[in-house]
Amino acid sequence: MAVLELKQVSKTFGSGNTEMTAVAPLDLAIDAGEFIILTGPSGSGKTTLLTMMGGLLTPTSGQVLLNGQDLGQMTEKQRSRVRFDQYGFILQSSNLIPFLTVAEQFELVDRLSKQNHDGYADQLLTALGVADEKTSLPAKLSGGQRQRVAIARALYNHPAVIFADEPTAALDSKRAFQVVQTLKSQAKEHNVAVIMVTHDDDLLAEADRVYTVVDGKIKE
Ligand SMILES: Nc1ncnc2c1ncn2[C@@H]1O[C@H](COP(=O)(O)OP(=O)(O)O)[C@@H](O)[C@H]1O
Ligand SMILES: [Mg+2]
Repeated sequence: MAVLELKQVSKTFGSGNTEMTAVAPLDLAIDAGEFIILTGPSGSGKTTLLTMMGGLLTPTSGQVLLNGQDLGQMTEKQRSRVRFDQYGFILQSSNLIPFLTVAEQFELVDRLSKQNHDGYADQLLTALGVADEKTSLPAKLSGGQRQRVAIARALYNHPAVIFADEPTAALDSKRAFQVVQTLKSQAKEHNVAVIMVTHDDDLLAEADRVYTVVDGKIKE
């Protein structure tokens, strides 16, 4: 069974004269551990699509199913639980909390989830080559280091799916490639599906499947 399934999902913004279709109705099924890339021109609907899959934006029509459960049938509280427990997010400028050190980013997750992922943060930070930065604040890290910490953070809650929206946009091409390879190998190791938006053609070869989004329509 697919970990994430979209059935005729669409998004329209505005109404009347100003109505525009950001995402035309589409079907998509993603299996556990798959590495998917979404590419396409700016304004084509990639972020809108990712945000709907991530349960942060309600589709105009259709269903988003996570392990067969319809996100649209859940309460906002349940959806937020799904985002916290089953999803990981990596954004363009990393989503680290600016006033917490690297180690504290992970301690916060432990506190919020009332769990102690014994030693797992160290393990991930070591695998990602940023274990020496545990006491650093995000602002002290390089762009590549910040994104690698963000990847570790996204993997930390053992998510089913990681959503990454142009995670390498701020990096040079060599760093971008390293960061994506690390994200991919960690995700494969932990059987996490990844859906990554990127403009960078050099990265497409890393994906199991590539989808191009043009004017809100998707094709493989
Ligand atoms: N909240 C919104 N309200 C109105 N229009 C939006 C909103 N979000 C995105 N759009 C429009 O939807 C289209 C797709 O945007 P987006 O998904 O951000 O594209 P991409 O990520 O591919 O650059 C764009 O024309 C954008 O202006
Ligand atoms: Mg975008």
